[in-house]
This record gives sequence, structure tokens and C-alpha cells, in this order.
Amino acid sequence: MNSFNKNNKPHPPSEKWEDRLFDTVVMFFQLSFLVVKEIVLGIVRGTFPWLHVGIGLVFTYLIFQYGFDRSLFQFFDMVRWYPRNATLYSLYYKFWVSSPLWGWGLYQVIQKRRLRNRMEEVSHSVGLKNGIGKVSTPVFDQRNYDGVTRTLRLAKSGLPIQDFQKSKSALESAMNVYVDDIRENRAKGTVDIVYSSDPLTDHFELSEIARYGDCRFTIGTTRSQKIYGSLKETPHLLIAGQTGGGKSTFLRQLLTTLSISNVDLEMTLVDLKGGLEFQLFENLPKTKVIPDLEQTVRELSSIEERLHDRMRYLKSRGLVSIDQVRENLDQMTTRHLVVVDEAAEIFLGAYDLGTARLQEARRILSQIARQGRAVGIHLVLATQRPDAKSLDTQVKANLTGILCFQMPNNTSSITVLDSGRASLLPDIPGRALWKHGATLVEVQTPFLSIERAQEALAPYKIKRGNSNLRSTHDSSQNLEMDT
Ligand SMILES: Nc1ncnc2c1ncn2[C@@H]1O[C@H](COP(=O)(O)OP(=O)(O)O)[C@@H](O)[C@H]1O
Ligand SMILES: [Mg+2]
Repeated sequence: MNSFNKNNKPHPPSEKWEDRLFDTVVMFFQLSFLVVKEIVLGIVRGTFPWLHVGIGLVFTYLIFQYGFDRSLFQFFDMVRWYPRNATLYSLYYKFWVSSPLWGWGLYQVIQKRRLRNRMEEVSHSVGLKNGIGKVSTPVFDQRNYDGVTRTLRLAKSGLPIQDFQKSKSALESAMNVYVDDIRENRAKGTVDIVYSSDPLTDHFELSEIARYGDCRFTIGTTRSQKIYGSLKETPHLLIAGQTGGGKSTFLRQLLTTLSISNVDLEMTLVDLKGGLEFQLFENLPKTKVIPDLEQTVRELSSIEERLHDRMRYLKSRGLVSIDQVRENLDQMTTRHLVVVDEAAEIFLGAYDLGTARLQEARRILSQIARQGRAVGIHLVLATQRPDAKSLDTQVKANLTGILCFQMPNNTSSITVLDSGRASLLPDIPGRALWKHGATLVEVQTPFLSIERAQEALAPYKIKRGNSNLRSTHDSSQNLEMDT
């Protein structure tokens, strides 16, 4: 308030004092209003901590019941300030006994004010402003039920959700937190930023190889929840990331889960780089582990035939997907999964011999990517760098679920995810970004050791006399082992 009058002389002290008193009273009422509003909002939203406040109320009540308040005044030698008048005492009593209630409300008001200032700073610094320079204001910031993450709800202020998503890393560093998810609530015009100040775990053991069925599998864990996928929702997957990120390990747990929980699922596993990873899955009744290019092409050709058969079948009945087939026809309804680890071996064409075969393999894989969904033929490709050279763009466009481990640089990350974030992932094996539809979340992928996978698969294996080690190595094959 202006404390100088028109003549630039100080106000008489008395007026200044009244002004102050008036300001204080106004402030008091404003604050009381805000406190009450917070309490009401808390109750309406279900964030009001009934238990804690209840315990607090019992506690303050007991303090007064046993006259500890008076002891406190005595202790600090302030007994003369103790309210003697009945009305004053009643006010004093009610004020302090109810303090846990309004104390919580006051705390919310202060937090909100802090948050608003902080958000304003953050929004300015990361450029989250709409056309007229307005920044998005916080609605609330509260702990989620998981007890680990928090949700910051912001009024969108007319900003598109993509702007928030693009600013994710900037928001993370400006707010000094880790953002799990950014999602929109169109009806309310708000954006929820789910974040945590704790880092994500660096080891997530696939504790129990659950029998999910229905082609479901674990993708990983965020700070707050486990993320699952299903071939029915995400028919084709791309697993990308530089060597050592965890692609083959992810495939191991994926295939173990899928094969023991979907006995009907047929699998064709290809690793032309001579990795031994897929040996684990040899001798499973519906699984073929393919060691060389020649056999790959043969297998893919027969899968292509099946794809055509099924397409014809669906067409003849006017159906769009095998999910609609009601007849009990294995030939038409069993799902088939084709997995290619080190897919660049096929798409880059590192072989001098067999270029025609490679072209054939690529053509069929591309066809599966385009048409497999409807007929229950799924594709999972793992590769280091799925750029235009090493992975057909059309194939890539059809791999709707993308799991991307660390990438060497911004450009390669953008190639995979349309975002540079995979180059910023920490150096932790198994750390990846899962992209599915509009979501892009950081996950720690499940770890399943070879020994445990072996143990889990053993009961499903066909017992055979021969050891069925790789007997059909193609001499033209690159036998470099990757570990
Ligand atoms: N989810 C995970 N948790 C813990 N360690 C992992 C995880 N994924 C991979 N690793 C470890 O990282 C190393 C490389 O994994 P690998 O799957 O071979 O990577 P890539 O196939 O991408 O080259 C292995 O030693 C593996 O044990
Ligand atoms: Mg590998």
C-alpha cells in the first residue's frame, strides 16, 4: 500500500497503523478462504488425509484435556499471556484444537503458491508458453496411490499436449525430477505430469514367469507400475538399441513367457549372426530355431503361403481378422510369431552370396509386417540401428510397438522413436523406452537368466535322442558370436 500522500509527505502514524490493520484483516480473510477452499477441495478430490488429521485432532484434544498447554506457557514463563477470559479461552481452545485441520489446509495453500511460482519459472525456462505468453498454471500436485510417484496437474492454457511431451527432458532437469508419463485430460483441459524424485530401479527380475496367456508378456517396470504388452494389441515389435543394451535378453524373457503360456503359439526364431541365444528354445514342439539364410527363406516362404491362405479364407467369408473366425480351425487360427534377432543381417545384406535369398526374405518379412496382424502372424525384429538402410521403412512403419534401448546419438534415437530420448538413457543394461501409440515411457526391462529360462522351458521340451546341436551351419554364415 502506498504510504505517501499526494504531497509526498509521510502519512500520520495513526493512519498508517489503521491501513496496516485493514490490510492484515483482509489478508487474514483471504487466507482463511483459501485454507477452507483447500480443505473442501481435498475432501471432494479424496486427497484429504483423514487418518493423519484425525490422529492430529485426537492429539491436540488430549493436550488440552490434560492441561499440557498451560504447562507449556509455564515452561516458557509466559503464564501472563494465558487466556483467562472465558470468550478468549474458548477462541484460543477452538483455534488450537482444530489446528491439524486448518494446518493441513494452510500447508496446501503454501505448497500451491510455491508450486505456482516454480512452475512459472520452469515454464518460462523451457518455453512452455502459449501464443499470448501465458504459461500453464498448476491445479494440484499430489502423491499417487503407489506412494512413489506424484502427479502434477496443469491447466493446459491452450497448449497442445505435444508441446508438453516435447519439453519432457527440459522439464525433468528444470524440476529436478524424473518424468514417467505426460497425459492429457481433454474434457478438463488439463495435463497430468506423472513424476518422481527417485530414479528407476536398475534391476527388475522377472520373478515369476507368469502364465499370462492370450499372448501377453512383460515389457518392464516404471517407478510405479509394471507394463505389459500383448501380441493382440501390438502385433509387431521393434527392439532397437546399441549392442549391450539388452535386446537379446529381452527376447529371451519374451519368448520364454510366450512359449510357456501359449502352447498353441508357433514360433520361428532367426538369428543369422550366429548368436547362441535361441538355442534355449530348441526342441519346443511348435518352435523352429533357424540357423541359416537358406532355411530362413524356406521357412518364411511357407509362412507366406499360410498368410495368403488365411487372407483368402478371411476374404471369402467377409472377415477382417482371425479373431472373428468362429470355426475351430487350427490351420486358420493358431498364431505364429516370427522373431529375427540381428535383423540388419537380413536388411543390410552383409552376405556376398545369396543376395537373391536376402531379397526374398526381406520381401516376406515386409509382407508379414503389412498384413500379418489380421491373420495372426506376428513379427518381432531386433536390430542395432533401424535406419532406412538397415530396415525397410515400410516394415518399420508397421512395427507399432517399439522398445528402444540406449542409442549412440540423437539422430539414431530420432530414427527409432521420433525423439532423441534414447540417446539420453542412463548406461544401465535393460533400460529402455517403450513406445506404443502416443505413450513413451522409460522402463527397466525384465531380466531372466539363461538358467532360469532353461528351467522354466524344460517341462515343455520334446525329449529326443540326439542332442540337436546346430548341425546345419551354412559355411557362408558370419559366425561371429555376440555376447
Ligand atoms: N533387463 C536387464 N537387466 C539386467 N541386465 C541386463 C538386462 N538386459 C540385458 N542385461 C545384461 O546386459 C548385457 C547385454 O545384454 P544383451 O541382451 O546381450 O544385449 P544386446 O542383445 O542388445 O546386445 C548382458 O550381459 C545382460 O546380462
Ligand atoms: Mg544381442
